[in-house]
Order: sequence, then structure tokens, then C-alpha cells
Amino acid sequence: MSIGKNIKSIVEEIPYKIKDINLADQGRKAIEMAEKEMPGLMAVREKHGKEKPLAGYKITGSLHMTVETAVLIETLKELGADIRWASCNIFSTQDYAAAAVASTGTPVFAWKEETLEEYWWCTLLALTFPGGRGPDLIVDDGGDATLLVHMGYELEEVYSKTGQIPDIETDVEEERVIETLLRDVLAKDAMHWHKVAEKLIGVSEETTTGVHRLMQREEEGTLLFAAFNVNDSVTKSKFDNIYGNRESLADGIKRATDVMIAGKVVVICGYGDVGKGCATSMRGYGARVVTTEVDPINALQAVMEGYEVTTLEKALPEGHIFVTATGNRDVITLDHMRKMKDQAIVCNIGHFDHEIQVAQLNAAPDIKKENIKPQVDRYTFPDDHQIYLLAEGRLVNLGCATGHPSFVMSASFTNQILAQLYLAKEKPKIGVYRLPKDLDEEVARLHLEKLGVILTELTDSQADYLNIPKEGPFKSDHYRY
Ligand code: NAD
Ligand code: ADE
Repeated sequence: MSIGKNIKSIVEEIPYKIKDINLADQGRKAIEMAEKEMPGLMAVREKHGKEKPLAGYKITGSLHMTVETAVLIETLKELGADIRWASCNIFSTQDYAAAAVASTGTPVFAWKEETLEEYWWCTLLALTFPGGRGPDLIVDDGGDATLLVHMGYELEEVYSKTGQIPDIETDVEEERVIETLLRDVLAKDAMHWHKVAEKLIGVSEETTTGVHRLMQREEEGTLLFAAFNVNDSVTKSKFDNIYGNRESLADGIKRATDVMIAGKVVVICGYGDVGKGCATSMRGYGARVVTTEVDPINALQAVMEGYEVTTLEKALPEGHIFVTATGNRDVITLDHMRKMKDQAIVCNIGHFDHEIQVAQLNAAPDIKKENIKPQVDRYTFPDDHQIYLLAEGRLVNLGCATGHPSFVMSASFTNQILAQLYLAKEKPKIGVYRLPKDLDEEVARLHLEKLGVILTELTDSQADYLNIPKEGPFKSDHYRY
């Protein structure tokens, strides 16, 4: 295996790189269980499996390599796609799921506990199909695959205009890793990413933070291909972000610490969709929940739900568990951690680890770090108070547990497939798109039967009175759910 600085060629003839292929049988059984809980994806297979609308399309995935993602991958394959896959987080791969997918001949480059060099090398491999060509489509979660293509393209632009390779200026470790990898690729082919970008039809983006990155690029005019905002389908953000995290936050905290949540003060930073799910969960366990917000509307929602809303500084002395769910950076600073209670638990459920100042915490010479077990570290401060940091500040639900349950991921991933089908068929021009309301409603419909839901039908006169079609869409685009 060659990584980072040592890449021999952009085209590496490696069938897969995972922890252990012998885990495939165990993974297959878990995938079979998940399929029964993923009615949306199974319905897509039933509807489109025969016609193979993705035949001839090469798809790169950069999305947590879990059992649920295995069902997504195998659905895309059943629709005819040629797949290469990496995870979008160094800790989130379920090794048996990766093994099961790899054993069917799909190139998977993911394992639990990758280094940053390995992670970005895996992303490069997932983006590089035989012969060195790039994908037609990307399934992204957080935007790292999209970022690599854009940053590579921009570096090549600088090089082609100046003939110089600029020095790496950043001190941020992960940025240095990416910049180094891109310089290695440039040395092999100075137009590689231009060729990749030219072929790309588009990306479908899973999460709030990835969509944020896409919108920024669209605004700046630097977006290189079409993008689908899957996150803002109602059947994604109002289900995965809320109800998914409502279950998987507690799973992560408990598998890591076995702590009793009842009676504790849990501080949730950010009361958006994810924060709402987290707050409900912690209250459900009997915690007293305190939230922090910058947006007055979200703050008002939190207080109307009965949560205290205050600043983190004020909450520090009483909090037992701290959870960041903002998608922002430097929300819990080193200084905050210095003032926390003894035995406080600190974790993040937002997409990137910089919500908590982990780098600063690790670099502080007066603070001692001890590893308790994988993804659980204890820090001892000069005044002897100790805190526990989960998953090194990365997504706690995927680092310390196995992410959201299959059923809610079925709704998210059905949106992903619909977006991929749309991109392949329509090949829209550069821009950021959302799925139309009727498809959003269709995703919900596909999940109702499994739960025994019986829908009421509008009568003709009721449909006339509301001035909407009897079979939907039922709401206008600005309806907020
Ligand atoms: P959101 O925009 O709905 O909510 C974020 C909230 O944080 C907003 O209300 C915002 O006002 C608030 N906020 C921003 N800066 C803040 C600060 N400094 N202090 C306090 N509040 C602040 O976004 P979301 O959909 O809830 O997603 C949040 C994060 O979770 C994103 O990074 C998203 O990608 C990620 N996410 C993770 C999972 C998971 O499985 N772990 C699932 C979905 C989304
Ligand atoms: N995001 C949150 N939970 C997930 C899961 N189980 N699989 C893939 N992505 C996820």
C-alpha cells in the first residue's frame, strides 16, 4: 500500500483496502437484517432494478461505510452503477460491512481508525476508476470528495498559470495532508483534476455542512459541477437529523462511557435539527437539558420546549455532558474545557471535529492525555479536574456507536438515489438543486406501510377547497413542517 507522499501512480490497482475480508459473512447477515428495515431502498430496487437506469455510470461514494451504506451501495449497483467507495470519517466504518461489500467485487477503501493520510488516500482511490478516469457522479457526505476535486483543480490552475507549485502555508494538520496529496497527484499528471471535473455530471450531498460548502462555492462562482442538496429534502433533515440523532447520540455516549444520563445536566450547543433530536433524547433519559444558540428563532423554539437557553460560559460550572451540534467551529474552546466540572464528558455530533478545540487541547503542554479505550480519552488539567473526550471530537454517534438506525437511513438514502437518478437522466447545468416536493412525499409514502400507517385520502371537494391535487403535493415549497 502506498500512501500520501509515496503514491506511485494515481491509478493504483488495488481491488479494495479494508480491515479484514474474513468479516464478510458476518457483515452480510447484518446487511440482510438492515434490508428489512430499509423499505425505501428495497422499493427503488423493485421499481428500477430491471431497467438499470444507472448502467454505464461510474459513482464514487464518500459516506460512512456502515451496514446501511452497504444497502445503499448495493441498491446503486442493482440499478446498474459501477461503484467505488470510501468513508467520510476516519472512525465510522463498520469493518464487517466494508468486508461484505468488498467481497462482492466492489472496490471499498475504508476501515475503522484510519489515519488522516490513509483517509485522504482512500478518498483519492475512490475517485480514481481504472485507467485513471474520474467518476460521472459523486455521493458525498460532508463534501470531502467534492473538496478534493475542487482543491486539485485549483492547484492545477495555479500551476498552469505560473509554472510554480505554491508552498503549503497552512498549519492545520488535515489541510497539510490534503495539500501534500494533491501535490503528489500534480507531479504525476498536472491536468488530472481538470479531466475529472470535466467528466463529472454532479454530486448528491447528504449533510448540512456539505450543503453549506456547496452553497459557498455556488455564491463565489467556483462550483465545478451540478449538486443536489439531499439534506434539505424534508424526509432527510426532518427525520435523519432529528430522529436519527435522537437515537444515535445516546448510543454513542453510552457505548463509550456507560454513564447514567438521568439526573445529569446535558448541555447541547446548537438547537437546529440535530440539536432538537439530541435535546429530546437526553430529556427522555431524565437529564436536565440546557441549550446554547446564536439564532433567536432557534433559541425561542428551545425555550418554548422547556429547555433553559444560556451561554456556554454560564453552563460550564453545572454541565456533566457537553454535546456540540452546530456545524460551526470553535464552539467549545480549550478555555471552556479548563473550566468544566471534574469528570465532564465532551462530545460532538456535528460533521467536523473542529466544533471542539481538540488540536489546542492536545497541544496544551500542561494537560495530560490518557487513552481509556478506543475513542475515549481522559484529559487531566493542572487543577486535577478531568474530562473525557469521545471520538477525538469527531461524530460521536458514528465513532463510538454505529450511527443512525437503518429505518431512518432508508429515507435519507432513498433521497440520495432519487438525486442520482435525476442527475444521470437530466444532466443539469452547474447549480445547487433540491428534489421536488412530490418525490419528497413519495419517500415518506414508501416508509409508511412498514409502520402500519393508514393515510386519510382527500375527498374531491376537500381537494377543491384546499386547491391542491388529491394525490399531492400537499404543501407549498415554503411550508416548514
Ligand atoms: P442546523 O443549521 O439546523 O443547526 C445548527 C444550529 O447551530 C443552528 O440553529 C445555528 O444557529 C446554531 N449555531 C451555530 N453556531 C453556534 C454557536 N456558536 N453556538 C450555538 N449555536 C450555534 O444544522 P443541523 O442540520 O442541525 O446540523 C448540525 C451539524 O450536524 C452539521 O454539521 C451536520 O452536517 C451534522 N449532522 C450530523 C449527523 C450525525 O449523524 N451525526 C446527522 C445530520 C447532520
Ligand atoms: N449517518 C448517520 N448514521 C449513519 C449510518 N448508520 N450510516 C451512514 N451514514 C450515517
